Amino acid sequence: MTAARQGPAWFTDTAPHHGALAPRALLDTDAASLPLDGAWAFRCSATAAGTAGFEESGFDDGSWARVQVPHCWQLEGVPGPPRYSAPAYTNVTYPFPLDPPDVPDENQTGEYRRRFDLPSAPAGGRWVVRFEGVDSAFEVYLNGERIGDAMGSRLVHEFDVTAGVRPTGNLIAVRVHQWSAGSYLEDQDMWWLSGIFRPVTLLHRPADGIDDLFVHAGFNAAARQGSLLVEGPRGAVVHLPELGIEAPANEPLVVQGVEPWSAEVPRLYRGTLSTPGETVRIAVGFRTVAIEDATLTVNGAPLKLRGVNRHEWHPRTGRTLDLDTMRADVELMKRHNINAVRTSHYPPDARFLALCDEYGLWVLDECDLETHGFVKVGWHRNPSGEPVWRDAFLDRMTRTVERDKNHPCVVGWSLGNESGRGANLESMAAWARQRDPDRFIHYEGDWDSTYVDVYSRMYADHAETELIGRGEEPPASGPAADAHRRALPFVLCEYAHAMGTGPGGLAEYAALFDAYPRIAGGFVWEWIDHGIAQRAPGGPTPGAEFFAYGGDFGEDVHDGNFVADGLLFPDRRPSSGLAELAVAYAPVVLEPRPDGVRVRSRLAHRDTSHLAYRWRIEDDGEAVASGVLDVPALEPGGCADVPLPRSAAAPPPPPGPERWLTVSAHLAEAAPWAGAGHEVAFGQARVDRPEEPPRRPSRPAGDAPCLPLAAGGWQLGPGRFDAAGRLAELAGVPLVGPRLDLWRAPTDNDERAPGTAPAAAWRALGLDRLRHRTVSVAEEQGALSVVAHVMPAGRDVGYEVEYRWHAHDGGLHLDVVGSPLGAWQVPVPRLGVRLAVPAALRRVEWLGLGPGESYPDAVASVRQGRFTACVADLQEPCVRPQENGARRCVRRVTLSGGAAALTVTGGPFILTARPWTSEALAAAAHPTDLVPDPHWLWVTLDAEHHGLGSGACGPVELPQYRLDARRFRLSLGFRAEAAGRKGSGG
Ligand code: GAL
Repeated sequence: MTAARQGPAWFTDTAPHHGALAPRALLDTDAASLPLDGAWAFRCSATAAGTAGFEESGFDDGSWARVQVPHCWQLEGVPGPPRYSAPAYTNVTYPFPLDPPDVPDENQTGEYRRRFDLPSAPAGGRWVVRFEGVDSAFEVYLNGERIGDAMGSRLVHEFDVTAGVRPTGNLIAVRVHQWSAGSYLEDQDMWWLSGIFRPVTLLHRPADGIDDLFVHAGFNAAARQGSLLVEGPRGAVVHLPELGIEAPANEPLVVQGVEPWSAEVPRLYRGTLSTPGETVRIAVGFRTVAIEDATLTVNGAPLKLRGVNRHEWHPRTGRTLDLDTMRADVELMKRHNINAVRTSHYPPDARFLALCDEYGLWVLDECDLETHGFVKVGWHRNPSGEPVWRDAFLDRMTRTVERDKNHPCVVGWSLGNESGRGANLESMAAWARQRDPDRFIHYEGDWDSTYVDVYSRMYADHAETELIGRGEEPPASGPAADAHRRALPFVLCEYAHAMGTGPGGLAEYAALFDAYPRIAGGFVWEWIDHGIAQRAPGGPTPGAEFFAYGGDFGEDVHDGNFVADGLLFPDRRPSSGLAELAVAYAPVVLEPRPDGVRVRSRLAHRDTSHLAYRWRIEDDGEAVASGVLDVPALEPGGCADVPLPRSAAAPPPPPGPERWLTVSAHLAEAAPWAGAGHEVAFGQARVDRPEEPPRRPSRPAGDAPCLPLAAGGWQLGPGRFDAAGRLAELAGVPLVGPRLDLWRAPTDNDERAPGTAPAAAWRALGLDRLRHRTVSVAEEQGALSVVAHVMPAGRDVGYEVEYRWHAHDGGLHLDVVGSPLGAWQVPVPRLGVRLAVPAALRRVEWLGLGPGESYPDAVASVRQGRFTACVADLQEPCVRPQENGARRCVRRVTLSGGAAALTVTGGPFILTARPWTSEALAAAAHPTDLVPDPHWLWVTLDAEHHGLGSGACGPVELPQYRLDARRFRLSLGFRAEAAGRKGSGG
């Protein structure tokens, strides 16, 4: 008997392509072209065999589907059920066996067919078909003839089709396999999606045209002059009208009087490169990237990357983005003071880079490479070190650099992400360095950093980042590597994991970026949640849209909601994390004091003359005075102390209201990414009693007796209490509580922090199932005093709490004092009380920090003031429901609606108000699982919260934001008003 062994297929060959043309820049040309986007006939089959004869012109595809290319075929049908097969999400683990370079027989295959006629074009020349992105491997046929094949999903491949093309009636057929040898190099943490997902174009390549060009444009800051060399075909002419340049290509020029390009002032000089056969538009930005003294510089000024990691994502189209979405990303970034993007973890759609050139963003352009899943087998057979993969690695780097080399926004090349170590990575670096010595080379995966130009790390905590900033980090693995690395600038290629509520600790990272020249900044992980739009099949709101994450499509191997860790929700709604980041990255820092404001510029390439400033004084949120502030234009990095105008020095208010001074900086004129008046920074200071020590809670004397009720319970002024001393009604408004509450619906950071995650510790202790035992209820000198022990079953830790109620001034006053019982080993989620109020009281007006949410270590973007919202708007739409929406430093809140109102004063306290309990919040998998309680709103009033940190993938909260069990006190006033009732005093 003979066993038939499957021969190697082209797509399990490690060779990166067969027959693709050499990589080159993606040029903006006047040569003829024909977009091949739009309707294609499509068929999806379960194995690589596909459809026999599909490539033949005469093949009948009448029964095939029609899809719009570009697309990801797993998202056809979304937000309904996926039509062909489901998307799958894994972070590190490959969703197929580690058997390189082979792939399973189950290998979904998409076949595409489309007809086209040639556009009119000058005679002669060649015809080329260009694919900008096909995941993961594809073969191309024209009129029945096989043209070639390629892999490298996020890379451009071109094929010469001149020989087989006809004036009319051409049939192009493309077969795409989900899995290929290339898949081993594409283990990025994201959905596995397949198909022709970026544009396809037929290009005419004129005889005597321009196949490629390379613009080298430097800027000598000392001499304030530019240098220009445009490499191109012999005889080509460079034309830059604004600079009066009309010169042959390939000749170095010194250009006087140029303005440099930077992310702050993205000055582009537009022009052309021409040959007799073709004219190509170019956009030149003069800038020089250098490393001096372990400091990364551009145009002689230190480069601080205030960046984000950006995957390409859209909740309906996946990694296929249209220009509007790319532009929306860039504008949102600019509006949030972001100045840099790492294109994690592949070169983006090329149009994104053109936008970065135009709007001004520094780009770390990353190659399409990740082999992270080999870590699961101890990096055994990791392609990074195997010679058989060398060509594939080099091909990927070559395609990245050649396509993007003319973008001034690109300041560094990244070899890829999380691919371990190996000679193939070193070869990529060596090739990139000789091809483009004018940019730095980055790779994080090898901490020795021997073949790169920046020392890069992900998720280093604040303390380690500071140590590196000082140059005092532990040595690299040998003396030579150590000496090399100590001379390198440092970059956090990923930090501040923005999963769920958070991240906390941004302000402290920003301070480190400011403090140490060696720290070139970093990139927050990550820009957007990769949620996929789906409709709830049933549940409380059938048909309502939610965003699916790993496991929602029944994947057998997946990493849950780890795919939703961005600063934007999937629908591009900014999260409060993004608001925090905007403050951490603000171009000017404003530090107001009672008599003036210190203004410090973080800009490195421009003065601040494009900014205008305002001041405002508010007493308990009520505007008292405001005006414009004259701040001299600060030089890059400059600082000034500016007095407030005389009119701002209003006499101090009588004791009572808090007076806050707000100073803000705005765009004086419209920018391409925001209108005039857009706020770029603000600062606040309390100016009424700056020397005042923290408020001591007052305990007013009771002014009404506490009377036992015949039916049991107590009447205290407007409040009726049950026999256990729990407030049941206040001035006709029914209430439940308040009583001690320590639990919060765990955040992603609570759930996933390294070691024993807080959420696991809390559940093990039983903080989610506390029991209340009333120890005593007694009337004492007109007050109602209730003492309770609050502890979980089976444990001897918890809290003793005393609630002491007085009638006061027509309302009630409550003093809560909580004292820990037993030996607590874990932090406490919250210290405070919760109560339920009628569901109709859904209008919320508060005096405190707002308008957004705030937590102990994420409190920079909110300001003191008076705010109004409805309860629904206080919730953040986290992809996986969790603790959110807290408002800190609240001194007064009124909940009203349905002709009733409840006001709580005192504190200051931390407020949440939700249409559901924290238990319901914790139990929900998606927002559409949450059912508003028809009767009650759940309100928490807290003394403190545990910090957020970014422990889901990185450091936990800084020590000062850890909430350990401790004695706490809350002093609160309650007043209510119900329709037809008087006497609450409210
Ligand atoms: C990093 C990785 C990213 C992402 C992140 C966690 O290790 O480079 O791709 O997985 O962790 O969200």
